[in-house]
Amino acid sequence: MEGGRSAGVSGLARPGERQPSLKGGWEQTVAESGGRAVSYFFLLSGPEEVRELAALELWALSGVEAEGVCGVGQVAADVIGAAYTRFCAETIAAGADLEELVAATEAAGVELEGFNIHVWQPAPRAPERPMAAIVRLADAIEGRPDLSHPRVELAVVAQAGHWRLGRVVSAASRDWRQWKPPVDFSAALPPQIARAMLNLVAAPGDTLLDPCCGVGTVVAQAAQRGVRAVGVEISKKLAGRAAECVYGARPGVLIVAGDGREIGGRFDAAVVDLPYGRSSLITQGLYGDLLGNLSGLVQRAAVVAAEPIGQVLEQAGFGQVRMARVRSNQLTRYVHLVGRPTPAS
Ligand SMILES: C[S@@+](CC[C@H](N)C(=O)[O-])C[C@H]1O[C@@H](n2cnc3c(N)ncnc32)[C@H](O)[C@@H]1O
Repeated sequence: MEGGRSAGVSGLARPGERQPSLKGGWEQTVAESGGRAVSYFFLLSGPEEVRELAALELWALSGVEAEGVCGVGQVAADVIGAAYTRFCAETIAAGADLEELVAATEAAGVELEGFNIHVWQPAPRAPERPMAAIVRLADAIEGRPDLSHPRVELAVVAQAGHWRLGRVVSAASRDWRQWKPPVDFSAALPPQIARAMLNLVAAPGDTLLDPCCGVGTVVAQAAQRGVRAVGVEISKKLAGRAAECVYGARPGVLIVAGDGREIGGRFDAAVVDLPYGRSSLITQGLYGDLLGNLSGLVQRAAVVAAEPIGQVLEQAGFGQVRMARVRSNQLTRYVHLVGRPTPAS
């Protein structure tokens, strides 16, 4: 995926190397401490139904593969705009259970002033009472806690067999919640999913196209992240609704009433939420035409459909990088992360 923002495409940097460019993401040299490589862990949020998309978003943001709700890598990542990643923390200590974690924390000789500890116990079962863990770990750290004005946020992820303590270096602002899609358009993407799709392909400063923008959910999320977005919608009524919803509150975006098959120009990336169901606007060959046109405009795209459409994407000129399913009561969405093949150099 040329120019892709997925560190996962090229793998992780080794200590001392630079992170492969995340295209506007957070480049950082892998830190070393006393000859020891520093590791970072990430916590995912959201129910089981969105776990695949959450893992894909983490991979796109950091290059890290999640195992369950946690991912561990050698490089930090900025997750402030993430939809499903809660935080990135620099590992202080790890162990199989609380006893081991406390011993490892003591052995690490941690000195911190004004810290606060938050314990995350991912479902299904809390392995320990959080307060007991907080007290034990606070005792193992040199320095005083400060719960009201902490200078250092510490996070514990407590999973059966895997406990980790770390210093939070980046936390999600969860600002995707500020956008409320109009209730009268049932096909609108939930804002959290729209944000995750945006994060698969675009970073602040990029240009983005949504050729089937509906009421503008993706465009609104893009604007919020400083991504310059153009939304195109064939229904004049919906385009008007999108403009009404998005303009004013979200400067730097454009909504156009038009046909997504006829757009020209160049954009860094696209997010496409293809029409589905019994819409009269879905004609034979629509997906192929929309995606065929799109592959001449962008290098990478996140495409959601109500079924797997790998073949259509391939015929349109995209190579599929990865796919994630998002299940809900009404439908399963198939999110395809695709890129244009890199010309041989
Ligand atoms: C699944 S909805 C997208 C919803 C959108 N993501 C949102 O959150 O509001 C698909 C949209 O594609 C639009 N559409 C269908 N054919 C189109 C075309 N040829 N060009 C542009 N938009 C089209 C439909 O009117 C519909 O609003």
